[in-house]
Amino acid sequence: MEKLLIEGGSPLRGTVRIGGAKNSAVALLPASILAQSPVTIEGLPDISDVGIIADLLEEIGGTTSLENGRIVIDPTEMVSMPLPNGKVKKLRASYYLMGAMLGRFKKAVVGLPGGCYLGPRPIDQHIKGFEALGATVTNEQGALYLRADRLTGARIYLDVVSVGATINIMLAAVLAEGKTVIENAAKEPEIIDVATLLTNMGARIKGAGTDVIRIEGVERLEGCHHTIIPDRIEAGTYIIMAASAGEEVIIDNVIPQHLESLIAKLREMGAQIDTSNDQLQISKMVRPTAVDIKTLVYPGFATDLQQPFTALLTQANGMAVITDTIYSARFKHIDELRRMGANVKVEGSSAMISGPVTLQGAKVRASDLRAGACLVSAGLMAEGVTEISGLEHIDRGYENLVQKLGSIGAKIWREKMNEAEIKHYQNS
Ligand code: EPU
Repeated sequence: MEKLLIEGGSPLRGTVRIGGAKNSAVALLPASILAQSPVTIEGLPDISDVGIIADLLEEIGGTTSLENGRIVIDPTEMVSMPLPNGKVKKLRASYYLMGAMLGRFKKAVVGLPGGCYLGPRPIDQHIKGFEALGATVTNEQGALYLRADRLTGARIYLDVVSVGATINIMLAAVLAEGKTVIENAAKEPEIIDVATLLTNMGARIKGAGTDVIRIEGVERLEGCHHTIIPDRIEAGTYIIMAASAGEEVIIDNVIPQHLESLIAKLREMGAQIDTSNDQLQISKMVRPTAVDIKTLVYPGFATDLQQPFTALLTQANGMAVITDTIYSARFKHIDELRRMGANVKVEGSSAMISGPVTLQGAKVRASDLRAGACLVSAGLMAEGVTEISGLEHIDRGYENLVQKLGSIGAKIWREKMNEAEIKHYQNS
């Protein structure tokens, strides 16, 4: 077990290249189940979630070869193997195995998903969609059993705008008989990416990226070649780090349009940001002004960037209010930030941050992926050394973090935890 150490105060300077989008990757891989011939996906991020899904695809009889961000998945021998326990519990996105296996085999058994704890994360809208398509869904000892004699297109209105439900229903509907309409669908770029892959496989999908998606079921899907979109949340995290600790940083392999809400907020704080086709340049802000943030569904401010943004707001002049309307309890990073000297209060689904303060290095714990990103951001600005445990969360979503930050001047390294530290980590 390892911990992350950061000696704060080194200015960041240089170029960081962004990897493929985690939240696309975890849906694109299961989507391959629907094909009758090999699917190739390029540009995958080197993160643990990708490895886990590739292993799950092998567990159900697929063959995969993953090298340098390129995976070839042969789904021809796949079967609807029950997956009630084991690796499915390790990540949230294992729920995409439900939609994909239901779509291809008309049956699936998948354990209820794990992943970051951000407060309650129900999947009732996924189930509502599967049932509308004709499936029977039962929950038996923590696993969902899905079965259908046939799947038939339906009109499905999502009561909550959900990325996962939108993608999962698309996966189940592309091979259903007839027309499916998903209303109040989520519009995240990752949804367009998955729809692009499915369309290249032969699916008929219109409207991905809008709030009404229309799907005309087809009989068969074939393999194809797909290149994943860049990770807007990884890019946003490095942009935030550059705004707080950078001298001049170029973010390469980014789609600036995917980050408009973040860029607008940073400009409101006083940041100088220049964008071109697939690059973005940002320098450290001098005396940033506090701004309020409300997280919303895309294209609003991403909940996934709320946590790293909190670290930046500790340096801003005045009081800022962050309200998370997507995950009202996504504030586990706040206690850790306080250990570093931040002045933050949490009330309900809002955090009030007063700044500026000088952060001090401390021993802190990443409770989830983006909490980890917040603490890394804080560590880069803090006086002294910050020690972060809970690296397994950070490794789920940030590829080569140490190398990427090291290459632009950060003093950051990993160290093995000693036995006492491991015991303390496991028991607390
Ligand atoms: N919701 C329901 N019922 C459902 C589904 C969702 O009430 O059936 C609620 C959720 O509780 C939440 C809101 O709807 O309040 C939105 O949830 P959504 O389904 O959109 O989230 P998700 O698909 O489970 C994905 C990302 C998250 C990201 C959210 C919101 C993946 C694998 N995960 O989760 O990413 O925070 O969308 O944008 O795509 C992360 O990357 O750190 C991360 C947590």
